[in-house]
Amino acid sequence: MIVDSPKIKNLIMSYLEEKKGKPFELAVDAGCGTGRSTRTLAPYFQKVVGIDVSESQLSVARKCTSHENISYQISPAEELPLEDASVDLINAGLAAHWFNPEKFGQEAARVLKHGGCLALYCFSLVFEIEYKDKSEELTAAFNEALLILLEFHKKVVCEVKAMYQELFSAIPFKDKQRISGICEVFPLTVPEIMSFLQAICSYKEFLEQDKDKATAFLQDLEKRFLDILGESASDALGFHVYYFCLLASKS
Ligand SMILES: C[S@@+](CC[C@H](N)C(=O)[O-])C[C@H]1O[C@@H](n2cnc3c(N)ncnc32)[C@H](O)[C@@H]1O
Repeated sequence: MIVDSPKIKNLIMSYLEEKKGKPFELAVDAGCGTGRSTRTLAPYFQKVVGIDVSESQLSVARKCTSHENISYQISPAEELPLEDASVDLINAGLAAHWFNPEKFGQEAARVLKHGGCLALYCFSLVFEIEYKDKSEELTAAFNEALLILLEFHKKVVCEVKAMYQELFSAIPFKDKQRISGICEVFPLTVPEIMSFLQAICSYKEFLEQDKDKATAFLQDLEKRFLDILGESASDALGFHVYYFCLLASKS
């Protein structure tokens, strides 16, 4: 399944090491959802706080008790339940496009320590599927379907396509940069690719607007994949995901 990008995690930790240095006391995972991105931070920090506006997401996150140094709180990223100058890292994975850029930028400036860092990352909307001589056909089928889905959340999609331009401008720190083209390849089967699509917010919106059409849409895509793959339908495919990341540090 798709996990957080190990390359991005390394990038963030090296950046924090360079800009602030140890100790790494407190990290906040803003828009933590079910805690997937939160758990990847736990080995590096004394304490990690995951915050999200959705109680249902947080209740799933709380079920995983693998790390004693993680706690979760319901809160918007624009009003963090944290003291001034108390945070080493604010992390937001696949979430910052939902935040109010100005309010979030101000809140980051309030809670970060001197040298503390902000890391906002997401996948760019470019995907490739690699499998023997079928790569081109599979990639085309996936991207055609994605284009239809992306119609459902136009404003958010624009901000992601622009690699968080509004958020980047709103970060009130001189020291900021954007890194793009970070590629991870995940071995995914066709059902796993379908689960990935089902989890994205545009599909959920489609489902809400027209359940039958949304279900048929996914079934058609799955059939298209299976037709292309023929006897190899159960093999894992190389799912290429390209991420970008904004990094900033409070001076
Ligand atoms: C796609 S999920 C990302 C979850 C997680 N970071 C991950 O990488 O798996 C985006 C999350 O952002 C949350 N969210 C949206 N707007 C928010 C806001 N203003 N403040 C905090 N969380 C927010 C949503 O509830 C959702 O759980």
